[in-house]
Amino acid sequence: FCPHGRPIPSAVVNRNILKSNPKVVDFIDIEDISEKAVLCRCWRSKNWPYCDGSHAKHNNDVGDNVGPVIVQRKN
Ligand code: FES
Repeated sequence: FCPHGRPIPSAVVNRNILKSNPKVVDFIDIEDISEKAVLCRCWRSKNWPYCDGSHAKHNNDVGDNVGPVIVQRKN
């Protein structure tokens, strides 16, 4: 059970993204990041590997607390 007392529904993290691949690995060149890149960690984004806000529904549905990792340039 999660800390909120809800059952954890599945051990499978990735339900939809590139399921035909044996392993999902993404490369983003630093040169291609202008100011920041917001990367998905919930595996629910429809704009993988970038966050599209789908973590909010996932967190609400299952009582999780995941969010993106934000890679940003310092000025
Ligand atoms: Fe997955 Fe935001 S959509 S972390």
